[in-house]
Amino acid sequence: MEWKGAEKGSMDFKYLYINTMGCQMNVYDSEKIASVLRSSGYKMTSSLKIADLIVLNTCAIREKAEQKAYSFLGRLEDLKREKPDLIIGMGGCIAQQEGEKILRKMPYIDLVFGTHAIGRLPGHIEEIEKKGRRIVDIEMSESIQEIETAGGPENGVKPTCFVTIMQGCDNFCTYCVVPYVRGRETSRKPENIIQEIAEYVERGAREVTLLGQNVNSYGKKEGLFSFPKLLSLVNDIEKLLRIRFTTSHPKDLSDDLIRSFKNIEKLCNHLHLPVQSGSNRILERMNRKYTRQLYLEKIDKLRHFCPDIAITSDIIVGFPGETRKDFNDTLDLIKSVEYDSVYAFMYSDRPNALSSEFSDKVEDHEKKDRLKRILDIQSAITIKKNEALVGSDYPVLVEGLSNKQGGAGRQLQWKGRTSSNKIVNFHFNKNDLPEIKNCSGKIVTVRIETAFPHSLRGKPVGIEPSSLGSKGEESYAA
Ligand code: 5AD
Ligand code: SF4
Repeated sequence: MEWKGAEKGSMDFKYLYINTMGCQMNVYDSEKIASVLRSSGYKMTSSLKIADLIVLNTCAIREKAEQKAYSFLGRLEDLKREKPDLIIGMGGCIAQQEGEKILRKMPYIDLVFGTHAIGRLPGHIEEIEKKGRRIVDIEMSESIQEIETAGGPENGVKPTCFVTIMQGCDNFCTYCVVPYVRGRETSRKPENIIQEIAEYVERGAREVTLLGQNVNSYGKKEGLFSFPKLLSLVNDIEKLLRIRFTTSHPKDLSDDLIRSFKNIEKLCNHLHLPVQSGSNRILERMNRKYTRQLYLEKIDKLRHFCPDIAITSDIIVGFPGETRKDFNDTLDLIKSVEYDSVYAFMYSDRPNALSSEFSDKVEDHEKKDRLKRILDIQSAITIKKNEALVGSDYPVLVEGLSNKQGGAGRQLQWKGRTSSNKIVNFHFNKNDLPEIKNCSGKIVTVRIETAFPHSLRGKPVGIEPSSLGSKGEESYAA
């Protein structure tokens, strides 16, 4: 076989560099990309310089994400000039949206592939390697079967993993590009989902996040089981300790699913429930199909069944036609719900999205001002909530070593999350609990000592026996 790219001596492989932008769905897709290209002889590298194939997995959700993608691609032009054999591929949502146009705009790009083309990548790469062709594949498949055959992510050995349970969206919120770049809502078969999760768990994963644009409507179209039923099947997977899911649409949050937070043992007590706006007028213009009152009722129910559930949200400020009064309704809703945290975004027009044609756009400076006001109010709520945790003990699933090491007597610093999704950092102290050599994937009970705006710090006070495994005790250092 003829290998393209840098000389590897006697080694039969080439290097693949992937830059992933955007949401967790893209993180999952990038793992699939790495996995299918492994069969074409590509090994992952974190160095752009030695890469034979560079893939940018793009996000189109907001204008800023799009600018970031083009700025990265712009920087690759020189690299291609120095190394003409280099293959550059652009995938994901912008690729799906722009197709052919990318090849015309950027002559140094070899491949543009959409969100449904991952399974076909090996064939495309072979064509480029052998015939030097430039390829665009933005065909959308009707079903999710092609994704099924795309191979499993390599990354199952991390304590946490993502698994896509459905793709696409049928909701057509007026600001959103997703239905155009990810296609119609399609759910995967439960048996394939369970098998994939079980494989990761076998390889060391202890927590799974089920992904979809609107997981609450899982299986409805196909007449498969409901989402709560899927959760109960996932709950039965042995050695899996925690389940999360994202994203939920408030209109599809059923009473059954709300009760799952009480009844499904491994389901974490955190829900991301994007409200987008607190004004009924704007919610209607966004085509969200719920009112502020209905949303608040659902929050009350959630807290009734699971009193310490953490709730987070997405908010868009400056949607076309949003008046000061509408914006104040949003501020008021944030104060009354008291979210654990919110992601707030300035509205931006997206191609095809209906709201890009709405005429009454909000000025940029006004959007910036509204964004700042939301962030200020929410920061105060978040810190208050984090401070209330100080002095209590929480089980933390350890994800690995913290980015910041050193200090504190050079003990290893560990990082994990509570069930409510708060980041917790800790280290072992001689006088406390005996040190565990490798904490990753274990559940350590941590007594919270300090609260920060985005994380907590504490000391370990116990370990969950169920997370130790059969040879668990041996992992304690003498
Ligand atoms: N402008 C700003 N924010 C947007 N989002 C989606 N589309 C837009 C847009 N056109 C936000 C929503 C969504 C999150 C993922 O991104 O809040 O929940
Ligand atoms: Fe976009 Fe609305 Fe679908 Fe979410 S539910 S992906 S915001 S169209």
